[in-house]
Amino acid sequence: MRQKLAAGNWKMNGTLADLDEVETLLTDHPDPASEMLLCLPATLIHSAAQRFGNRPIAFGGQDCRAEDSGAFTGDISAPMLADAGASHVILGHSERRTGYDEHNTLVRAKARAAMNAGLVAIICVGESLEDREAENTLDLIAGQMSGSIPDTATGENLVLAYEPIWAIGTGLTPTMDQIAEVHDYMRERLERRFGAGVGRSVRLLYGGSVKPSNAAEIFDVPNVDGALVGGASLKAADFGGILAALDASPAEGG
Ligand code: 13P
Repeated sequence: MRQKLAAGNWKMNGTLADLDEVETLLTDHPDPASEMLLCLPATLIHSAAQRFGNRPIAFGGQDCRAEDSGAFTGDISAPMLADAGASHVILGHSERRTGYDEHNTLVRAKARAAMNAGLVAIICVGESLEDREAENTLDLIAGQMSGSIPDTATGENLVLAYEPIWAIGTGLTPTMDQIAEVHDYMRERLERRFGAGVGRSVRLLYGGSVKPSNAAEIFDVPNVDGALVGGASLKAADFGGILAALDASPAEGG
């Protein structure tokens, strides 16, 4: 049985004072059925882990370097994230794939480093609007999955997030049929590559303009095991609303 996962991605938002939102979230939702995770700016991870270490929430990073250490000014390694108190790291987010030219091979190397450091790699895949209009979505997802996911993936060290680029920060969301098509396809490909046991245990998140008002219908879609939430994860009331919808959703996404 896959445990549901409500994951937030704060992106480049938040300073120490904003950790009070986490306090509010935990006060409002002291005992969630779903796993709760916030991927914070790296500067906040240690403070958050110290302050909320014994509460039902985990913290993660938003990227890491593939190497563990070295002369890479400005970069952060997977062991450093783990040392700061992170248990997860987002890799291959479209904002990095497009903004920093991160390709599948690099994402795979980063994921390997994350897994070696004991972190859960949240690998993101998703198509541009051009790809969708050209009906390339499933081929593109297949390529991103085979290129970015290491062979050592398991249900414990991998979470896969489907984030259509055109839905991120735009208020647009795919239809439920479109989400179902991609999530079923991802599940099938995972099962084919890793076998049914591992393939069925990896959690699949949907991300892109998830908010309290659309969360319930998204979580009704089969093979949607949770969400990766950007803007709506910054405010406790919004993220809490999404969490509540996830807690109330059918087992294993419908
Ligand atoms: P929004 O929820 O702001 O659309 O962002 C989604 C996202 O990119 C999460 O990683």
